[in-house]
Amino acid sequence: MSNVTLHIVRGDEQTGRTVEDYQVPYREGMSLLDAVIWLREHQDPALAIRYSCRSANACKECMAVVDGKPGYLCSLRAVPDSEVRLEPLPSLPWIKDLATALE
Ligand code: FES
Repeated sequence: MSNVTLHIVRGDEQTGRTVEDYQVPYREGMSLLDAVIWLREHQDPALAIRYSCRSANACKECMAVVDGKPGYLCSLRAVPDSEVRLEPLPSLPWIKDLATALE
């Protein structure tokens, strides 16, 4: 079975940043948001992320920095046996982990 390795920036303004590494089982058609939601449901319910529509690119809440570039996690597909670094957007106030405040 294939996995996707996620390197996710964790923390908040008080605790500072750390990078945690996770393995998520790959599913055909899985988005990066699906992978993060899987982590929350199966490994770490405290992992903070903001999203609403999950796929329509309508709410604009799931934006994060993906391998150094901003993108919508719900519209970016996971690639089997790949590694991806996820960080909160630097242009918005940081709440926790991948969650930033909406403007
Ligand atoms: S979850 Fe709404 S745009 Fe990604």
